[in-house]
Amino acid sequence: MENKEDFVRIFDTTLRDGEQCPGAAMSEDEKLDVAHHLSRMNVDTIEAGFPVSSQVQFKAVERIAREVEGPRIAALARAVRLDIETAANSLKPASKKRIHTFLATSPIHMKFKLGKSPSEVLKLAREAVLMAREYVEDVEFSPEDGTRSEWEFLREVCEAVIEAGVGTINIPDTVGYTTPEKYGELFHFLTTNVRGAEKIIFSAHCHNDLGLATANSLSAIKNGARQVECTVNGIGERAGNTAMEEVVMALRTRKDFYGISTRINTQLISRASYLVKTITGMVVQPNKAIVGANAFAHESGIHQDGVIKNRETYEIMTPESIGLESNRMVLGRHSGRAGFKDRIIRLGFQPSGDELASAYNRFMEIADKKKEVFDEDLIALFTDQSMKKVQPKYRLEYYHVSSGSNTVPTATIKISIDSSVFEETSTGDGPVDAVFKAIQKITKIVPLLERLLISPVTKGTDALAEASVSISYEAKTVVGKGSSTDIIEATALSYIDALNRL
Ligand code: KIV
Ligand code: ZN
Repeated sequence: MENKEDFVRIFDTTLRDGEQCPGAAMSEDEKLDVAHHLSRMNVDTIEAGFPVSSQVQFKAVERIAREVEGPRIAALARAVRLDIETAANSLKPASKKRIHTFLATSPIHMKFKLGKSPSEVLKLAREAVLMAREYVEDVEFSPEDGTRSEWEFLREVCEAVIEAGVGTINIPDTVGYTTPEKYGELFHFLTTNVRGAEKIIFSAHCHNDLGLATANSLSAIKNGARQVECTVNGIGERAGNTAMEEVVMALRTRKDFYGISTRINTQLISRASYLVKTITGMVVQPNKAIVGANAFAHESGIHQDGVIKNRETYEIMTPESIGLESNRMVLGRHSGRAGFKDRIIRLGFQPSGDELASAYNRFMEIADKKKEVFDEDLIALFTDQSMKKVQPKYRLEYYHVSSGSNTVPTATIKISIDSSVFEETSTGDGPVDAVFKAIQKITKIVPLLERLLISPVTKGTDALAEASVSISYEAKTVVGKGSSTDIIEATALSYIDALNRL
C-alpha cells in the first residue's frame, strides 16, 4: 500500500482501456515502446493489459513486467479466481505490481449483466480483494458503472474492500454519464463517509461520451481523488478515456486553483502523443487540446501581434513545456552520424547500433529529397524504423504508377517475399487502388480496406507524408504505417506493413 503523499498519481491505461477501442490494437513490441516511454515520462502506474483475455495479452503484460523499470505495473482482472491468478502470474517479474480487480455495482449491471443481488455482489467484491491480496500487496478495486450505482451501496462496497485490504478504490464512470458537479459530490461523499477512507487512495476513471472526461476527473481531484486513470491522446472505448495530457497540463497550468500536481515530465507529452498516434493509426484532431497540430498555432493577426509583444497575452502554456521546440529545423544532407545520433537521443529514443545505422541510411535518403529535415521527420522515420524489429515477409522493391485525367491509372509493383521477387501490374480507379490491386495479385490476399489516412508530417510540398492503413482479413484488423516524401510510396509501404502484421 502506498503512502498518501499529496500529489496526483497518474495511472496510465493506454495499453488496456486505450487498446480496447476498435482499430487500436498494438503488437507486443509496440506496447513495449509505449510502456518504455510512459516510464520515461514518470507515470506512477502502467496498466499493461487484461491478461486472462488472451495469450497475446498475457505475454505482453509479462514482458512489460519484466522489461519496464520505474512505474508500478498493473493488470486487470474480473472478480474471479482464474482472472486474479492469471493477472498475478503475468505480473510475477515486476518489481512493483498491482492487481486491479473490478465488479459492477449499478442496479442495471447487477440485475441484467451479473444476475446477482447487491448482497452477493458485496460478498464477491470483498472475496476478490482478499484473493488478490494472496498474490500481491497492492490491490485496486473498481465498482464498475460506479457513477450509476446507489451511493449508500457504494459506501458499503468501499468499506468491505477496505477491510479486505485494498489500497486504491477507483470509481469508474464506465458509460461517460456523470457531470463535473455530480462526480465531485460523489468523491466528497465517499471520502467523508466511508469508514477507513483515510487509509486508501481514491481514483477517478472517466469516459468521454459527453465530452466531460477531463472536467470530471479534475472535479474528482478537487474533491479528494489522488489518482487519475487516463490514456495518451484520450484513446479508449467509444468516445475515449480522460486524456492524460489534458489533466496533467490543467493541473500544471492552474496550480493556483488546484494546488496540487503530478510527477509527469511534461516535456515528453508531445512525443508520447506522436508515438501513440503513429502506432495505433488513431489520428489526433488538429484542434485537440494540448497535442493537436493547432494547439499552439496563432493564426489571427491580432493574436500573432500580441504573442510577439508578450507571449502570455494569448499563451497560457508554452509549446516547450510539452516538448515542442520553437526552432525545429535541425538536420540536412550534410549532417553526420554524430549529430544525427545526438538529435535522436534528445528526442527520447534509445536506439541500438543497428537501429541507428539503418535509421541513418533512411535519413540520408530523405535528406537527399528534402532540403530540411525537421524533428517531426526524424520522429516519423525513427518510429517507423523501430517498429520494424522483425524481418518482414513482404518487402517493396520497386513501384511505378501512371495516372492522369485521360489515362487509366496503372501500377506496376515488385515485392520480395522471403528471398524471391514477384512483379505484377494492375489498373484501378485511381493510382492507390491500382497499387493495392497489384499487391493483392502478388500476395493473393484480398483484405477489406477499412481506412486510409495520409498526412504530411511537416509543412511544405516536399514534406514527408505518413500513411496509415487499416485492413481486415479473416476476422483480424491490423493497422500498417509507411512514410515517404512520395504519398503513393508511403501508401504502398503502409499496405505492405499491414500485410506483414497480418
Ligand atoms: O470503464 C470501466 O468501468 C473500466 C473498468 C474495468 C475499470 O474500464
Ligand atoms: Zn474504462
